[in-house]
Amino acid sequence: MNDFIFHNPDKVYFGKNLIGNLPRELKKFGDKVLLVYGGGSIRRNGIYDTVTSLLKEGGFSVFELSGVEPNPRHATANKGAAICRREGIDVILAVGGGSTIDCAKGVAATVVSDTDDVWDLVKAGEEIERALPIVAVLTNAATGSEMDGWAVISNMDTNEKLALGGSGLIPRVAFENPEYCYSLPAYQTACGAFDIFNHVLDNYYLAGDATFDMILEFQEAVMRTVVKYAPIAMREPKNYEARANLMWASSMALNTVLDAGTVHGCACHAMEHELSAYYDITHGHGLAILAPRWLRYVLNETTAPAIARFGVKVFGTDASLPPMDGALAAIAALETFGFETLGLKGTLTELGIDDTHFKAMAEHACGGSVITGPKALAPADVEAIYKMCL
Ligand code: NZQ
Ligand code: ZN
Repeated sequence: MNDFIFHNPDKVYFGKNLIGNLPRELKKFGDKVLLVYGGGSIRRNGIYDTVTSLLKEGGFSVFELSGVEPNPRHATANKGAAICRREGIDVILAVGGGSTIDCAKGVAATVVSDTDDVWDLVKAGEEIERALPIVAVLTNAATGSEMDGWAVISNMDTNEKLALGGSGLIPRVAFENPEYCYSLPAYQTACGAFDIFNHVLDNYYLAGDATFDMILEFQEAVMRTVVKYAPIAMREPKNYEARANLMWASSMALNTVLDAGTVHGCACHAMEHELSAYYDITHGHGLAILAPRWLRYVLNETTAPAIARFGVKVFGTDASLPPMDGALAAIAALETFGFETLGLKGTLTELGIDDTHFKAMAEHACGGSVITGPKALAPADVEAIYKMCL
């Protein structure tokens, strides 16, 4: 078990009846608000009206950055930063899924920096300790952005999708009302669910061997929660218990509770961000295609026991199987979950992706080094995994 520091300053209001606290929380930071949102889902499901009437009652001056793209673009964050500087914005209110919250974080970091281009900060790769305060109203259970210090920003001019990170990017307050997820389409619910699942599997659970038993059990509980509740939420979009379980699982998966004392990895995420950068696909879907292939690729005598345990604890596979057979059963169960239960297309070919850019993507994913995890992956390994996904 590794030493760790746990510090998450995000205050979360979780439940049906708490959005009324939004004005009081915003007031702590000032009166001028930049409201950030996506392509219009919050206008259609009524959340926009709820939030803007609270802002009106609270007497805030509100400016808007709308149209944030799924896989948010650096140019959109730059637009937001220009509004903040021009208008002297005090606090950024992100209302949406991970893309909206990430864009808000890009805005928040840029405003207090020496540049007007968030991409300079992304490329510099320095930890972001200072940013305008961010308040998030979450509408999609997926990325964990509502409680973490990461923002993933895309530059489609250069086919790059990269992370900006630091304590300054953790939202100060997050509102999580599971009812806000009722309007999510089944496909988006499935992709979000797989993203949550993969944050645990890829980032910590199979990342290495710094085992911390309580945390391992906790990680398995979060993955089991996703396996149990994602299909229910897809079938019954207004099932509060299912939406609530997925929403809190989203936050738990990346708010650093689950990485206490563990080794960090990011194999599937590093590989997926290349797919999104080149082909603008939905993040969770890319992960669902990659994860079982990655496990098959890293399976060997050393990794088999941990992969087999994953099958037993998360999918209820046969605990009496020898490790290699148990690991194969676990991978098969993961495929069934992604491609049958969640109904996600199982190959890159079906998403219209061929091997044209695999070499470049693999090299970029490795960033001049290797991707860490249960088995270190060099560019040739990553390329091989992409090919297994065709
Ligand atoms: O654009 P709007 O109108 O908001 O519609 C969105 C979008 O079309 C829609 N949606 C969201 N909430 C909805 C809804 N539709 C109906 N009802 C609702 N309640 O869903 C679509 C996808 O939204 P998006 O925000 O893109 O999804 P998600 O939350 O999965 O975020 C994905 C982005 O986050 C990054 C991903 O790479 C991707 O760019 N990630 C961020 C992380 C972080 N900050 O820590 C970690 C993750 O691993 C991930 O990389
Ligand atoms: Zn993710």
